[in-house]
Amino acid sequence: MNPPALIPQIPENAPFSIEQRAYLNGFLAGLFSRTTAPSSAPTPAAAPSLMPLTIVFGSQTGTAEKLAKRASKEATKRGFAPVLHDMASTPIKECASSPSLMVITSTYGDGEPPDTAKSFWEGLNSAEAPHHKARYTVCALGDTNYPKFCAFGKSVDARLEALGAHRILPCAECDTDYEAAFAGWLDKSLKELSAGVGQTGVTPSGGDAVTPVAKESAVSGTRECPYPSALLVNRLLNGEGSAKETRHFEFELTDPTVQYQAGDALGVIPSNCPALVSDLISTLHADPEEIVPVSNGLELSLFEALSHHFEITRIPKALIAHLAVRTREEQLVKLTDPNVNGELSAFLRGREIIDLLLQHPGARTTARELVAMLRRLQPRLYSISSSPKAHPKRVHLTVGIVRYESLGRQRKGVCSTFLAERAGGSPVPIFVHRNDNFRPPADPKVPMIMVGPGTGIAPFRAFLQERSAGGAQGRNWLFFGDQRSSTDFLYREELQAQKSAGILNRLDLAFSRDQDEKIYVQQRMLENARELFNWLEDGAHFYVCGDASRMAKDVDAALHRVIEIAAQRNPDQAREYVNALKTSKRYQRDVY
Ligand SMILES: Cc1cc2nc3c(=O)[nH]c(=O)nc-3n(C[C@H](O)[C@H](O)[C@H](O)COP(=O)(O)OP(=O)(O)OC[C@H]3O[C@@H](n4cnc5c(N)ncnc54)[C@H](O)[C@@H]3O)c2cc1C
Ligand SMILES: Cc1cc2nc3c(=O)[nH]c(=O)nc-3n(C[C@H](O)[C@H](O)[C@H](O)COP(=O)(O)O)c2cc1C
Repeated sequence: MNPPALIPQIPENAPFSIEQRAYLNGFLAGLFSRTTAPSSAPTPAAAPSLMPLTIVFGSQTGTAEKLAKRASKEATKRGFAPVLHDMASTPIKECASSPSLMVITSTYGDGEPPDTAKSFWEGLNSAEAPHHKARYTVCALGDTNYPKFCAFGKSVDARLEALGAHRILPCAECDTDYEAAFAGWLDKSLKELSAGVGQTGVTPSGGDAVTPVAKESAVSGTRECPYPSALLVNRLLNGEGSAKETRHFEFELTDPTVQYQAGDALGVIPSNCPALVSDLISTLHADPEEIVPVSNGLELSLFEALSHHFEITRIPKALIAHLAVRTREEQLVKLTDPNVNGELSAFLRGREIIDLLLQHPGARTTARELVAMLRRLQPRLYSISSSPKAHPKRVHLTVGIVRYESLGRQRKGVCSTFLAERAGGSPVPIFVHRNDNFRPPADPKVPMIMVGPGTGIAPFRAFLQERSAGGAQGRNWLFFGDQRSSTDFLYREELQAQKSAGILNRLDLAFSRDQDEKIYVQQRMLENARELFNWLEDGAHFYVCGDASRMAKDVDAALHRVIEIAAQRNPDQAREYVNALKTSKRYQRDVY
């Protein structure tokens, strides 16, 4: 990955007013930052009228970064001189001294900051955090499937206020289908911010309404304009007798405008299982041909709408509230209390919409009522497991197929089973989800340590292909694990061939069920603490991909232990060491 460009800043004691300094900083940022498009850089002639604006983003997988760039473009059109900062490298004093501040950030883990925003958050919370004077507004990105919805954005919002900044709008909370909420927030924020800053002259170009996203990115292969691709390969990776179903998929990618890099994810837009759609319609005693509203005036048959437009498994909170009102059942009423997070998660686990409808026929929910409560069907992301250098016209995925039983019914993950069972016929809409926070080192000589058990192997297969294709000299170390070596050693031949060819210098394996006691990748890290630390001291980048709920936490704890053991540091020093790795983007995670 390219190191972030150093953007020169006008010193505070330089003989400029705040507005002039902000304008000049904006201008320099436009010239030097990879994050600000040169075409949107303000021109010197318009200098006196431009309003200073600092935009700070915190992002794990690129969404907040993409939206921050969009906000920056829009702000420029409306007469601001925006300066865009990643929380990874933003000095707190930059925010403190800014007169106008917009923050866009996602939430990760269990209500935590994105990895690269952790140091920023510690700084903002420290006793030495400076007084803030900005008029500010926060846009929090999240997912209502997580109990701590948008928690980090909300914490930043509260902390800025506590530090003296002046909130001009309530924190916007955006779910995974964020477009309308984000566009509304952006428009209002820029109006409020510009109302509070005096302009001195030339009227800036650009209209009032936020530029529709489709206009900006009507390029094929984006979330807004997916690319219809043929699924060419669907191959089971596990051997007979495995408890897992992990599949290798290959999509055709012959359109030269659809490009990806190792480290990116692929968005897949699935359709729902037709058998479940039919079951749901019978449970409602509805007619599959009944016409229902979908969005923006679009109306479709119930069958079509439920097949392609709505999430029909995950229970929306609105459905619980609706049933609580209709049935007055104590448990449902209790679950509508906004403070019942733990209980709600336990209730939702293993339950789907159909279970609630079957359990409460007396509520007489109609098809129209249900559709009005459903969330839009969301694309699923998959870490790409190929390098375009090795496979220029294809994109590969490594997917764990979700199947389980609960309450006496067989359940299927929407997208993974769509890929496994139904994606072969007609083209599948896909898009590239760029992730600049997860890239092999830009310098081919820098060593890589990759921890990727299970489907976590995916991006590292891409990294190794990338390095191999480019003849990179840097050493590569992979920790891989799964249940059993005989059935679950994904890509065994490839990895062993890369080991023999010297592309993979170290391959450490942990198969949890090959022996009585469970062995996981983090144990292998600890067994090799000294060598692992030596690699880090040699500048290695450390990568983790796969399960977020347990594996990534255990690997993180093991990394801290490695530093304590091998370098004889105390836990605080180990934490500082790991934080420095994160801030310099040498510790990168792609966990889910
Ligand atoms: C950046 C990123 C990269 C990713 N990369 C990959 C990848 O490379 N490979 C990969 O396989 N996945 C990857 N994922 C995960 C992937 O996006 C999907 O979340 C996954 O495939 C499940 O989607 P689905 O539609 O099949 O299941 P869904 O319909 O979304 O259902 C999943 C839900 O089912 C429930 N569930 C699952 N198992 C059980 C159980 N045993 N008991 C009760 N409830 C259960 C849980 O609520 C779970 O959230 C990635 C995710 C992200 C965010
Ligand atoms: C592993 C993981 C954990 C997450 N945890 C939360 C959470 O606790 N709360 C929340 O609201 N959203 C959570 N999210 C959702 C992200 O915040 C959301 O997808 C966001 O749009 C991602 O933005 P980014 O690409 O800029 O990081 C989580 C997502 C993942 C993959």
